[in-house]
Amino acid sequence: MNLQRPLLNFSAGPAMMPEPVLRQIQSDIWDVSGTGIGILEQSHRGAYWDRRIGECVDSVRAAGRVPEDFEIVFLQGGATMHFALLPMNFCPPDTSSDYLSTGVWARKTLHEARAAHEAGFAGEARCAFDGATCGYDHVPAAGECALNAGARFLHYCSNNTVYGTMFAEPPAAPAGVRVICDSGSDMFSRPIPWDRVDCVYACVQKNLGVAGTVLMVMRRSFLETARRDLPPILSYIEHAREGSRLNTPATFGIHVTGLMCDWLVSQGGSAEMWRRSQERSGTVYAAIDASEDFYRGLARRCCRSHLNPVFFLPTEDLHKTFLGEATVKGLVSLAGHRETGGIRASMYNPFPVEGAHCLADFMRAFAAKHAGVTAR
Ligand SMILES: Cc1ncc(COP(=O)(O)O)c(C=O)c1O
Repeated sequence: MNLQRPLLNFSAGPAMMPEPVLRQIQSDIWDVSGTGIGILEQSHRGAYWDRRIGECVDSVRAAGRVPEDFEIVFLQGGATMHFALLPMNFCPPDTSSDYLSTGVWARKTLHEARAAHEAGFAGEARCAFDGATCGYDHVPAAGECALNAGARFLHYCSNNTVYGTMFAEPPAAPAGVRVICDSGSDMFSRPIPWDRVDCVYACVQKNLGVAGTVLMVMRRSFLETARRDLPPILSYIEHAREGSRLNTPATFGIHVTGLMCDWLVSQGGSAEMWRRSQERSGTVYAAIDASEDFYRGLARRCCRSHLNPVFFLPTEDLHKTFLGEATVKGLVSLAGHRETGGIRASMYNPFPVEGAHCLADFMRAFAAKHAGVTAR
């Protein structure tokens, strides 16, 4: 099979994978590591997985430079499942937690946490910042957040996939308040300041693998504060104790995340991912900024996402023409989310830097061709 594909896929996720990883997966489906058995057919309790699960944890630790005092657990259910499970584990009914609602996923996180509270499974989930009031065009500065010193944790989303905004660094929480980060669209796309977070988790289908698999990295001293009276399948303590094999784990997804992390390390690690990310997004933002308002970015400049630039053209018709002409050129999946409209160019770890230059060239040519059309 020829993997030299003609399309540049700007999908928000699941998204592009590196060619060497795809080739390795092809081979592993037939026979993994010379065992004579394919990766999809290996028992999760057999000798192969006794070894492989540890390798995948090691690969994640190396890719993210995860300190030893953090537990790495592979889970299922997508990140959304954990929007509900995190408060159930870490915010018992008579306590509370703070949420920064900075976009679609952060809002859904708060919604699930409140549903867990209303059902009696978790404490109160407070909105410490509501981005709806500013069209989610930025992430809050410290002075904009109404944080509670007694909260069990502060939850934030480091990169807002839909609105294309990102935190430059974790928000400062009051002393003693733990920090939980949904890193669903930027995990290991930049170095993580582990001294400022207690839990970082992600669905891996954007930067690190296959949909459905969740990577959860928790400071051990934080994990120890989790509730112990939950049904085991909902308990992070139990999943960690069983080494991610409480029940049949998502073996294929874990294997692929291991391969993705090995690839990431071979490319220079998360610092190099960050350099590439800045070059890709910088190229696209430069085309926006040089267009004399033909293109209009959604995010305030201070908070621009390096993974999901979102922008608009002067008219609705021009969006359709842009998407149509881009597709003809092999630039696909550029339509913005249904909540924002416009254009979104998602470019995660495996996305080639040259692909961003192709898009920027196309944007410049398109703007020159349609110059003079003004917003209606
Ligand atoms: C930042 C972020 N968090 C959470 C999610 C939800 O992930 P899942 O659909 O795997 O539950 C997404 C999905 O796009 C996301 O971008």
